[in-house]
Amino acid sequence: MQIVTVKSYDEMSNLASKMIAEQIKSKPDSVLGLATGSSPVGTYEKLIKRHKRDGLDFSCVTTFNLDEYCDLSRKHPQSYYTFMMENLFSHINIPSKNINFPDDNFEKYEKKIKNSGGIDLQLLGVGHNGHIGFNEPDDVFHNKTHKIQLAESTIRANARFFNSMDDVPKTAITMGIGTIMAAKKIILVAGADKASVINELKKETVSPQFPVSILHYHPNCTIIHASSS
Ligand code: F6R
Repeated sequence: MQIVTVKSYDEMSNLASKMIAEQIKSKPDSVLGLATGSSPVGTYEKLIKRHKRDGLDFSCVTTFNLDEYCDLSRKHPQSYYTFMMENLFSHINIPSKNINFPDDNFEKYEKKIKNSGGIDLQLLGVGHNGHIGFNEPDDVFHNKTHKIQLAESTIRANARFFNSMDDVPKTAITMGIGTIMAAKKIILVAGADKASVINELKKETVSPQFPVSILHYHPNCTIIHASSS
């Protein structure tokens, strides 16, 4: 694992978007794994710029999102589908048939990823408790795409996007740790608010109680950390 420290969120987003653009240019039919949340928003903004300004072509790209809430319709303003449409997909030339989100049919999702040739580049954020996707701290690493109960701390963190705590979904579908680790390349973007996560990672201890630590075992993983906002 390589940890690259940059000065700002803007620099972090620029570097991540550059690495993703290089991936797409070297393999126009790249399969990307994508995350939602505040961490990758800047990366998506820069990718949109690269599309509009430099003609970065998404027409053959396929995407698989990491996770989606249960019990929210796709059209709900807080669904991850809506998030991705607003922050990336509706601004680039990716065909809608190439966009994938996990649902209750976990096996089909895993098969679709496999049949697409596997994920070439997975973009990740990380939770304050070390979760990746919605793989929360646990006694074991969960391998494949599965349904999970969100941790209390995650529900609290997500409450800012909903009218009340009661409205925050309590369950979600997420790619598993094995699904994420099977990606050929991983980029994790972590803003200044994730300094404690980065410090914990530097201890190089791997534990399912701190899911992001599994990335120490990935052969091609870059963590881009912004030291200030
Ligand atoms: C969402 C996801 C989550 C987020 C994490 C950090 O698709 O994968 O693991 O990356 O909750 O969220 P932010 O970036 O909002 O701090």
